[in-house]
Amino acid sequence: MAHRIGYLVGSLSHDSINRVLATALVRVAPPSLELTEISIRDLPLYNRDDELTPAAAVTTFKEAIEGSDGLLLVSPEYNRSIPGPLKNAIDWGSRPWGHNSFARLPTGIIGASTGAIGTAVMQSSMRSVLSFLNAPQLNAPEAYITFTPEVFGADGSISDAGTEEFLTHYMSEYAAFVERVLSVTAPGHVGDRD
Ligand SMILES: Cc1cc2nc3c(=O)[nH]c(=O)nc-3n(C[C@H](O)[C@H](O)[C@H](O)COP(=O)(O)O)c2cc1C
Repeated sequence: MAHRIGYLVGSLSHDSINRVLATALVRVAPPSLELTEISIRDLPLYNRDDELTPAAAVTTFKEAIEGSDGLLLVSPEYNRSIPGPLKNAIDWGSRPWGHNSFARLPTGIIGASTGAIGTAVMQSSMRSVLSFLNAPQLNAPEAYITFTPEVFGADGSISDAGTEEFLTHYMSEYAAFVERVLSVTAPGHVGDRD
């Protein structure tokens, strides 16, 4: 049976290059992964006062994370860090205390940038956040993508053979990582949140 992998796109832009990257990742993923976007678009700004009576969008978001076998974070870097909308989504998912939706969930971090270092600093910040949230992370390969429109089609096609090979390898390594994590935490890993 395929593993259900949610993915978060850390950009709200309708022309997001990271959504294009995510579409490309869906195309090259092995059949053992079934990828679905979990939208962060409708989440309100995090407010501790609303934790116990959250908006419906928050409940939907947390249920989607908890119903996933793994999570991919596909995000830009904003000012050398995690974009606000994505950090906001993670903050909601981590709360209330004792109901951290990310605990034990095998995660992969990847991102595309127009800049030369391909979201490396955002990814470093994200690793700290996910470590605190007790989410295992694929350590290698790392994937820092400098986006060029000549290479990535809006439909997820990849016109450069080396890039396609690398992203295919990334997704197959992520799939193997998901298998490894689930083999030691299943069954019921999603029901046992910190
Ligand atoms: C507020 C803001 C901050 C940015 N900061 C960075 C940055 O720190 N590093 C980087 O490589 N690109 C940075 N960029 C450029 C982004 O890589 C580029 O806008 C990219 O298209 C964003 O991804 P998206 O299309 O998925 O939204 C920044 C863009 C914005 C709007």
